Amino acid sequence: MSAGRGRFIVLEGIDGSGTTTQTARLVASLRAAGHAVVGTREPSEGPMGLLLRQALTRRLVGISDRVLALLFAADRLDHLASLVEPALAEGKVVVSDRYVLSSLAYQGMRLPLAWVEALNAAARPADLTLYLDVDVRTASRRRHARGGPTELFDADPVQRAVARAYGRVVRKHARAQRVVPVDGTGTPDAVAAEILSRAQALLSGRRRK
Ligand code: TYD
Repeated sequence: MSAGRGRFIVLEGIDGSGTTTQTARLVASLRAAGHAVVGTREPSEGPMGLLLRQALTRRLVGISDRVLALLFAADRLDHLASLVEPALAEGKVVVSDRYVLSSLAYQGMRLPLAWVEALNAAARPADLTLYLDVDVRTASRRRHARGGPTELFDADPVQRAVARAYGRVVRKHARAQRVVPVDGTGTPDAVAAEILSRAQALLSGRRRK
């Protein structure tokens, strides 16, 4: 990490783990602390991201798991080139709701993991990945309370498989993606405070265990 470059922070977790809420809270807190911050998400707002959202909500059907994996990887490289890398080059902090580990967990659980890893090898690693650890039942309760349309990976048995897949890839890629697990079952305030403290440790160059 050279001086003058920004920092890339990612939030990961199963559906209903709070990545979207906590990404917004982290962006707001870091801005309030005076950092220049870009909040973003994957699937991205770019053309491939729009296609992916259609597939996730089943407005677009008949996409195979392999094609979905290719689209997620393509969206990621597009997102990096169009938004993430330019912001980092300007020294900004980029916070993304989901990144590489989402593909390794969701796509890797249905396809050979090595192939999904290879598709994502060109995507720069995160400087910090906060994995929101939430049990499948709590996450399911939250998703039902939130309402809205059901998505491709929403069913509870699927989420149990996603959680197991995350367990594997979080361990395997802990070092590469600088993964720090965070207990995501607390109140939104408590989880936000823990996440902010981890992010601040990175941004101030302090090391925490
Ligand atoms: P989204 O509607 O953003 O869900 P949430 O706000 O609950 O995170 O959809 C993201 C979904 O896409 C989620 O089910 C995880 C899945 N996904 C993958 O399968 N692979 C990926 O690479 C990414 C980024 C997301």
